Amino acid sequence: MCGIVGYLGKQEKTISILITGLKALEYRGYDSAGIAYQKNNKIKVIKSVGRLEQLEKKVKLENTVLGIGHTRWATHGKACTTNSHPHQSGNITLVHNGIIENYIELKQMLEKKGYQFQTETDTEVAAAFIDDALKSSKNMIKALKKAKEKLKGSYAFAIFNDLEPDTLYAMKKESPLVLGKTEEELFLASDPMAISSYTKEICYLNEGSIVKLEKNKVTLIEEKDTRPIWKTLNIENCNNGKNGYAHYMLKEIYEQPDVIYNIINPFLKDPEMEFKKLPNFSKYKKIQIVACGSAYHTGLVGKWMIETYASIPVEVEIASEYRYKKVFYDKKTLVIVVSQSGETADTLASLRKANKDHIDTLALVNVITSTIAREAKYILPLKAGSEIAVATTKAYLAQLTLFSLITLKLKLEQSSNMEEIIPLLSAFQKLPLKIKKLLENLKTKDIASKIYKHNDIFFLGRSIDYAICMEASLKLKEISYIHSEAYAAGELKHGTISLIEEKTPVLSLVTDTSIQEKTISNIKEVKARGAYSIVVTNQKLEECDYCDDFIIVPSTEPLFQPILNIIPFQLLAYEIALLRGCDIDKPKNLAKSVTVE
Ligand code: M6R
Repeated sequence: MCGIVGYLGKQEKTISILITGLKALEYRGYDSAGIAYQKNNKIKVIKSVGRLEQLEKKVKLENTVLGIGHTRWATHGKACTTNSHPHQSGNITLVHNGIIENYIELKQMLEKKGYQFQTETDTEVAAAFIDDALKSSKNMIKALKKAKEKLKGSYAFAIFNDLEPDTLYAMKKESPLVLGKTEEELFLASDPMAISSYTKEICYLNEGSIVKLEKNKVTLIEEKDTRPIWKTLNIENCNNGKNGYAHYMLKEIYEQPDVIYNIINPFLKDPEMEFKKLPNFSKYKKIQIVACGSAYHTGLVGKWMIETYASIPVEVEIASEYRYKKVFYDKKTLVIVVSQSGETADTLASLRKANKDHIDTLALVNVITSTIAREAKYILPLKAGSEIAVATTKAYLAQLTLFSLITLKLKLEQSSNMEEIIPLLSAFQKLPLKIKKLLENLKTKDIASKIYKHNDIFFLGRSIDYAICMEASLKLKEISYIHSEAYAAGELKHGTISLIEEKTPVLSLVTDTSIQEKTISNIKEVKARGAYSIVVTNQKLEECDYCDDFIIVPSTEPLFQPILNIIPFQLLAYEIALLRGCDIDKPKNLAKSVTVE
């Protein structure tokens, strides 16, 4: 999604800091980029569609102390140079993340006052609104306060005006924005990663903050407090390159054994102590898991784990639905939000909804400096390190691992018997090695070469295998652009089986022994209609006339089996996308951190 960088500091550094900062935000997904800076009392704006390299070709490394930069992920108006940021109106130049919901109404009002608009964006309207407010108040802070009162929706702005040289303003609501500083420099960014190579001194702006940055001076106008609270950035989550891998996604797939090890190792060393550190769940009679995309899929697995092994009812909700629906929860409900980025707008809104109603909230989150991590009552960090590829792999696996631990803690609370948990922990301990070996032995390249040209690929499974198929299907479609659907195996014949044609690839996951036979008979149904059937299993399947290819995953305790089952699907999606020549780490139209609803 959109990214913001702002800088006020040393002449010779400004432009390169803006570009480097934007590069650090590239992984979030964008379709155009731009910068603006003040130079000899003039404003220079340079914009470009496509990758940052296109922008870099247009930019000269001029000396200037103040600049702002932006990567845009189109929401209002197509991806083109005109619609990309920075936008200007009158004396105002700004970049914006978020969505101004009432921009049409404001645009009509401003047009009556004589403003003309060049773009299709909501952002240009915000620029005009602030310019108009500045004209009447002659004071930028007053103008921003008026904008804060009238603009509906979400925003993080970095702004300067022609009348105040070397002064940068910012304002935020529901879109992340941080300040950074060194002795002689001030920074603004939508994600600390953009400025982490220049400063570790960070101040997270609160909702509704307005900030004025001048040489070595920060003026913060907040609702509650007016002093910036500086923190030292934890550099754990910074990008350390592809480490020899062709893509971040591949690197992240191969990092998964270490990710699991990092989470479970403390539990192996001192289980009593580590389980005590987890929140006490005993008072909860119901759990609601709320998330988006892959994180929603981990919620489905979490539901299966908790309901099957701890017999507590769990509801799993898509955050964009949950935030607007009537929700049934009470003091005995725990709301668990799951998010890699910790900034997903709908998940954050769902968390805030529960917090507002004084319901206990727990966040499973990777970026521990994120808004979700800061606002949840309890947090369990994923400890997955920075995940750069848009398609999540290691964060998904870390979420499954944490749900396994939550399940074990619930079991422990119910029986107070550590003896029951110890054998499970020893199975857990073997998972990193099993994943390593699985990754070494997988023959997904061969299968990918047989199916990558198809336009439709289906995934079948029942129960927990179905939950994993949903993630497998999402992984494939998001990076290879192949249409794909995951189906509960028994449901296919209620309509979708009509799409199965001669050689349509159907991947079935068969590891849940309790309903294995049922899934197999559904596989036979698609095979009878000509499907190219690939079975992923940890079982020795006796009769094999219903599969054209096999992928074998190792077995483990059924509670942890889903953690192994997703691995071949991640690698297969990667291999297919590679053969199709896709931009694997930055798939089209997608963003890593979805900060708008
Ligand atoms: O940062 P989050 O975990 O909250 O993100 C949620 C989804 O946007 C994310 O999982 C998305 O579905 C991924 N692209 C899937 O690979």
